[in-house]
Amino acid sequence: MNSKIYESDFLVIGSGIAGLSFAIKASESGTVNIVTKKKDTDSNTNYAQGGISSVLADDDSFDNHIDDTIIAGNFLSKKSAVEVLVKNGPERIRELIEWGAEFSFKNGPDGKSFDLGREGGHSHNRIVHAMDLTGKIVEEALLKKAAEITSIKMFEDHTAVDLLTQHQLGEKKCGNDRNTTCYGAYVLENETKSVDIFKAAVTIIATGGAGNVYLHTTNPSIATGDGIAMAYRAGALVGDMEFMQFHPTAFYEEVQDGRALLISEAVRGEGALLYNSKGERFMEGVHDLKELAPRDIVARAIDKELKRLGDKHVFLDISFKDPDFLIKRFPFIYAMCLKKGVDFTKEPIPVVPAAHYLCGGIITDLNARSSIENLYVAGESACTGVHGANRLASNSLLEALVFSHQAFLHSSGYVKKNKGRTILPDFPKWDKEGTFDYEEWVLIKHDINEIKSLMWDYVGIVRSNLRLDRAYRRILFLEEEISDYYRRSTISSKLVQLRNMVTTAKLIICGAMTRKESRGLHFNTDYPDINDDMKKCAVQCSNAGIQMKNLDDIRF
Ligand code: FAD
Ligand code: SIN
Repeated sequence: MNSKIYESDFLVIGSGIAGLSFAIKASESGTVNIVTKKKDTDSNTNYAQGGISSVLADDDSFDNHIDDTIIAGNFLSKKSAVEVLVKNGPERIRELIEWGAEFSFKNGPDGKSFDLGREGGHSHNRIVHAMDLTGKIVEEALLKKAAEITSIKMFEDHTAVDLLTQHQLGEKKCGNDRNTTCYGAYVLENETKSVDIFKAAVTIIATGGAGNVYLHTTNPSIATGDGIAMAYRAGALVGDMEFMQFHPTAFYEEVQDGRALLISEAVRGEGALLYNSKGERFMEGVHDLKELAPRDIVARAIDKELKRLGDKHVFLDISFKDPDFLIKRFPFIYAMCLKKGVDFTKEPIPVVPAAHYLCGGIITDLNARSSIENLYVAGESACTGVHGANRLASNSLLEALVFSHQAFLHSSGYVKKNKGRTILPDFPKWDKEGTFDYEEWVLIKHDINEIKSLMWDYVGIVRSNLRLDRAYRRILFLEEEISDYYRRSTISSKLVQLRNMVTTAKLIICGAMTRKESRGLHFNTDYPDINDDMKKCAVQCSNAGIQMKNLDDIRF
């Protein structure tokens, strides 16, 4: 196989909101290669519904948004990161509009003011949206803008496999003390199976989340934790992995094939109510904000109702509102529900929680730098510290925008300063050879299903020591088996993802076992209370194990 060598100033891994918005800006300072493992639109971003939170209303303030984020995060968020997030919001939204994103407006005194929506945990209306298709509109605008820039080159159907660091050159790896430098990545051309070398002065991981390590998820199939697993293998610090967010309202189907349809929190923002099978509004006794309580609380309350009554789903009802308004406000959800046989203007929607968003990831500082030199991370793959133990609704797209901007500011300085002076080392050609047989696909599929089921059954909304111990034992066995299979097989995109899924699942389990308390999205029946000794981040490193640390104390 003739593998190729590419070189650019910036290598962007992933073409969602984080990768694209970084690439557009970075192209002002140098050449940019974007690798993305499927088509350019395949991303969580493309499915985002509710919107992007930002302080834009006259009666709102940065302090309100900061407080809401920290309260939703169960007081584990890193305040300095939350401040960067919130204060940069309005500027980043304006930029998106300049790049062509068309959000929903309503007539205000000036004739055109944002139609700001409301979602769980927000004290004010601050969700900028494009009907219920925010992600699609944003992704399209970013792709169009990126396509106009000649210094950006997009490589679709290219799966990043491993980061290029001195480790591949035989040197010791120690990412936790910045002795490791990233020079790009080995990238698989899915079709030809050639593994190419993509060298770059600066690399940014923007590979999104990992919902697919769970049986039921709102995420599309690309979300397999690739960037996090890759960075972890290279020695980067990873944290907060135990905080997997379960969205309370995914459409319930007897047989779930592929990703679950999300019923946006914005539907509850417009007044939708939750009922159990007895017709009771169970959120009333749970939280002052009822249906609009933060997500961890609503998801756990639904889980409790399902277990209490032995039901498979609860109901979300908005049929009491004007049908014309509902169809205009939620055209996508309306059409998708109709396809599945539910007209939500007339009847309630059956809903269940599903894995939705990974709050943890690769630990980054306020400049989006990871613990590995010249490796930046933005979007769902990053652990900026913003979300703490539970992400506030619609803070994810915002985080991706704000921290990819921070990454651009910091890394472009480095690239400009070193223009013409950066000599990237020569890396050996990919030498992993094996005998992958397509009949063996059944082995990969079985392992994927096993990971998904064990994570769903043992590391879900409610956890216990017994369940976590079981999950840990099984994941270690799977990890060994998969790593052996990976070594012996010819490389394929599916195999690369399986290897990353097992690592990501293990990181989630290890984080959960270390956190001996219940906080936010992590609820363990053996430690049902908050423990202030645990008001830290479970930091994991492939060469240094796992330690509870304050994110503010981690300096790069
Ligand atoms: P993504 O958009 O997921 O992009 C990741 C990219 O990396 C993809 O292009 C993927 O193909 C690529 N990739 C992955 N692995 C590799 C690899 N090994 N090699 C090469 N490429 C790779 N958040 C909000 O704030 N508001 C919302 O309204 C909202 N609604 C949501 C609705 C749904 C149904 C879902 C699933 C999520 C929603 N979220 C929302 C969360 C939000 O959409 C995501 O967190 C955000 O889009 C992540 O952006 P990203 O750029 O980090 O990753
Ligand atoms: C939704 O529309 O409910 C998703 C919003 C989010 O994930 O922040």
